[in-house]
Amino acid sequence: MKKILIGVTGGIAAYKACDLVSRLVKNGDEVKVIMTDNACRFVQPATFEALCHHPVYTDTFATSLDGEIHHISLGAWADVFAIVPATANIIAKLAHGLADDMLSSTMLAATCAKVIAPAMNTHMFENPATQRNLAILRNDGMQIVEPASGHLACGDVGKGKLPDVEDLFEAVQAAAVWPKPLQGKRVLISAGPTQEAIDPVRYLTNHSSGKMGYALARQAYRLGAEVTLLSGPSALRAPYGVTVLPFVSANDLFCLVKDRMDQADYIIMSAAVGDYRASEIAPNKIKKHDEQMCLTLVKNPDILQYIGEHRHQQIVCGFAMETEHLLENAKAKLAKKNCHMIVANHLKQAGAGFQTDTNVATLIQPDEQKALPLMSKDELAQTILLEMMKIENGGQAC
Ligand code: PMT
Repeated sequence: MKKILIGVTGGIAAYKACDLVSRLVKNGDEVKVIMTDNACRFVQPATFEALCHHPVYTDTFATSLDGEIHHISLGAWADVFAIVPATANIIAKLAHGLADDMLSSTMLAATCAKVIAPAMNTHMFENPATQRNLAILRNDGMQIVEPASGHLACGDVGKGKLPDVEDLFEAVQAAAVWPKPLQGKRVLISAGPTQEAIDPVRYLTNHSSGKMGYALARQAYRLGAEVTLLSGPSALRAPYGVTVLPFVSANDLFCLVKDRMDQADYIIMSAAVGDYRASEIAPNKIKKHDEQMCLTLVKNPDILQYIGEHRHQQIVCGFAMETEHLLENAKAKLAKKNCHMIVANHLKQAGAGFQTDTNVATLIQPDEQKALPLMSKDELAQTILLEMMKIENGGQAC
């Protein structure tokens, strides 16, 4: 459980902070809220109190029933302090160390991780003064969540919208992870299925949802890495802070991997890559004729094997998805594809494999194997990344 302090300032996007607080509480985090006087003109403190089950703090001089000096104790309590939304005014005050109300005083006293989510009119956001102030805050180590572009409440169209709640949630979760053992590392991850066209209407594919690979990308970002996610067709939203490059076929993925692998420190192939594709893609819809039809397939490149044969400094992790002889087949893949580690998962095991939010895996290395219990794909992703760091450190835990 993380302790999250949310500061709300006076902009129309203040109502979206309610969703964020609700999302954090549902995640099991403990949340407390500070509001400025202007924020209280947009949303009543009672709304936040009902959502986070704590009193809302608005006044530095309010009588403290618990005997604490709240603008000091709240900053010390929090793992992360996020201002959502942050107006141009609070950004200017923080950049210059002003402390003239409860929110700015608490921010000045806090030493935890700090996140600022600006939201305002485009011209206010682009004003050199605001940009200068944001640069100061960035330089002071605060994480700035870039506003989104779109229709603004004032009628203008441009940059200044508060990002989606899921992105804000992820920015806060990432800020809560400290230290960042993957800082400075570049992680390349593949996720999801391949689609191999047969004609303009049909294709060969599999049941991968991308959940395992997206969890790896999310966790690698939280641990501080620069993450590139190569994603097959997936309904999942792009993880916050991650560069997503789409692919459709195995050959598309192969091109992306060849292009990117030399720049990567860690490579994880969790995509479910089709082993075969149609020898020819029919230019028009194949019409139905006989009772049977034959489709000639040719082998796709084995991308993980290529990575294993061409790797230099990279730590390489593959997956093995099996329906029988899991460990035997996974060990054979480890050797054949020259990986540092294979994550073996059994499609017929309850809670494992395609589309589930959980997985059951065995981590296989040349000289050891670790059977893991049922866990969420996010937990497994973190375990895999920590194991890869250990491999890089010659077996020492970070
Ligand atoms: O996406 P989800 O719904 O969350 O499901 C997760 C998952 C089941 C897809 C995932 O956990 C998983 O097991 N991914 C690997 C699936 C797979 O293709 O396994 P494989 O045993 O067929 O391949 C072995 C390894 O070689 C894999 O790392 C695969 O990415 C790679 N490969 C396979 C074929 C090929 N032509 N090129 C490859 O690089």
